[in-house]
Amino acid sequence: MKKLTGNINIGVFISGRGSNLKELIRYSKKNNTNWKIKLVISNKKEAKGLIYAKKNKIQNYAIEKKKPEFEKKSLSILKKNKINLLCLAGFMRILSNEFIKKCKFKIINIHPSLLPKYKGLNTHERAIKAGDKYAGSTVHYVTAKLDSGKKILQTKVKIFKADNPNTLAKRVLKAEHQIYPKAVDIVCKKII
Ligand code: GAR
Repeated sequence: MKKLTGNINIGVFISGRGSNLKELIRYSKKNNTNWKIKLVISNKKEAKGLIYAKKNKIQNYAIEKKKPEFEKKSLSILKKNKINLLCLAGFMRILSNEFIKKCKFKIINIHPSLLPKYKGLNTHERAIKAGDKYAGSTVHYVTAKLDSGKKILQTKVKIFKADNPNTLAKRVLKAEHQIYPKAVDIVCKKII
């Protein structure tokens, strides 16, 4: 990959609440990072995360289209804006292999489980049902295989007897907010 000297331009894909996006924006501003969130794309018009983008004057797009059209349009926006890294933050759609191949930059994702455990959905429910002592979250590179790319950072969260998927999800989310910006720092140090 070509080495960069200036600011690293980050694109973020979201589908909903956008609390991880909010945290990435907050962290990059506070710490004057060598990366900045240049644009946000949502596959849902009503995604709350778009509001944070607007508030922070970050380009934002809602593309409510079927996957092939969504990917075509997004890719053209990412290329036009010279994006160097794509972060998935609560993006609830599986990207096609073609899209991943066409992206000449890295893609990373945050997933609410201690991967390789519990790929896919309902991770907290599955961890509680299995009687696990710990849940957590993983930031990893995105490859054609779902939730299987190389780990960048992982954080553990204790599961208490009284936990249900909602209470656990809240604590895991807090931990996600700690690790996602740090994982972006790690990846961006490799890009520069
Ligand atoms: C986060 O917990 C993230 O790990 C999860 O969705 C939530 C999004 O929250 N992502 C996935 O499940 C992806 N498979 P947010 O919209 O508030 O950042």
